[in-house]
Amino acid sequence: MKRIALLGATGSIGRQALEIIAASPELELCALSSGKTDLTELASEFGVEHFQCGGDLTPLLEASQPDLVLNAVVGFAGCRATLWALEHGVTLALANKESLVAAGELALAAKERGGGLLLPVDSEHSAIFQCLEGRTAEEVSSIVLTASGGPFRGRSRAELEHVSREQALAHPTWKMGPKITIDSATLANKGLELIEAHFLFGLPYEQIEVIVHPGSIVHSLVRFRDGAALAHLGYPDMRVPISFALSYPERAATPLEPLDLASGLTLEFEALDEETFPLVALARRAGLAGGSAPCAFSAANEVAVEAFLAKRLPFLAIAEVVERTLKQADTSLMRDIDSLVEADAAARSIAAEQLGKVSR
Ligand SMILES: NC(=O)c1ccc[n+]([C@@H]2O[C@H](COP(=O)([O-])OP(=O)(O)OC[C@H]3O[C@@H](n4cnc5c(N)ncnc54)[C@H](OP(=O)(O)O)[C@@H]3O)[C@@H](O)[C@H]2O)c1
Repeated sequence: MKRIALLGATGSIGRQALEIIAASPELELCALSSGKTDLTELASEFGVEHFQCGGDLTPLLEASQPDLVLNAVVGFAGCRATLWALEHGVTLALANKESLVAAGELALAAKERGGGLLLPVDSEHSAIFQCLEGRTAEEVSSIVLTASGGPFRGRSRAELEHVSREQALAHPTWKMGPKITIDSATLANKGLELIEAHFLFGLPYEQIEVIVHPGSIVHSLVRFRDGAALAHLGYPDMRVPISFALSYPERAATPLEPLDLASGLTLEFEALDEETFPLVALARRAGLAGGSAPCAFSAANEVAVEAFLAKRLPFLAIAEVVERTLKQADTSLMRDIDSLVEADAAARSIAAEQLGKVSR
């Protein structure tokens, strides 16, 4: 029996994880968290004694002593839980990419001390993790992250000037929470994933490619030095990577449809339009700068996305807020969680100032 602490239980990933846990006799829920939603009913449905709404989630983890933490909180709010799991050697199934982006080096040092497993839940990183299994770093020539391209693929910058919140929330292939859906429309999500991949797989940024694949069937690829490229295929359904992380090292059965190859399935790929979607290049720059630059990238993006969702910022200005914040933020190294929290707060305050200044 694996005891699971499910953080962000009321979100898109959280609800899909609950479905998997409910169907598996080997998985037991021992803790639940949300941001604002009352959890009394859910906790009683699953017989969970430990649950918490908002705040620092580490006391919840201390009290419930899980075997595995599934971190499906959105944004920087998931950072302390990520660091707690890694420090304590508790298996971390990570959906909350923002925490690894912001805390990268601290997280890797905590993992080294804790000695536990870090299993990606992001579909691209889960795919890469599986393609890499049993291989050494020297055998890998690059990893290739696929991007659906979001709802605005093929549009020019001029065409994106007046897009609405509703248009940006209409993702063509994935059904997700609002923040990651906007991140997918701006491609900031792929930028975050680029940095996430760097920390997860220990590869330099030059060995991480991004390619647009509108069908979201190939979840990502690894190119090896012998010329072979291994890919992970499946319909876009987060229950597959969630189930993989929860049942690792085994593969549990899921009720999902197998890929119907005879249905006329085609796989299309195209280059990313970096001029229209500058956030991938900005993330790459932040990743290369290192220190707290990735933290500033993610914090500024959170502030800008929140303003866009509140209809206080136009779509194209999201990237502008991030770029201006990166120029001004102090990107020196973070020594510990306190300096990480400071770096995040400082970037947020710079980004908030920029909201009023960017072009409308
Ligand atoms: N959705 C996907 O398909 C998908 C795919 C890959 C990766 N991810 C990543 O997984 C994470 C979750 O995404 P999602 O789409 O599931 O988001 P979501 O639907 O917005 O859910 C977010 C969860 O986090 C909780 N939360 C929000 N603010 C919080 C705070 N300040 N403190 C503690 N908990 C807080 C929410 O609680 P309330 O309900 O009470 O607000 C909710 O349970 C993100 O990092 C995302 O990038 C998601």
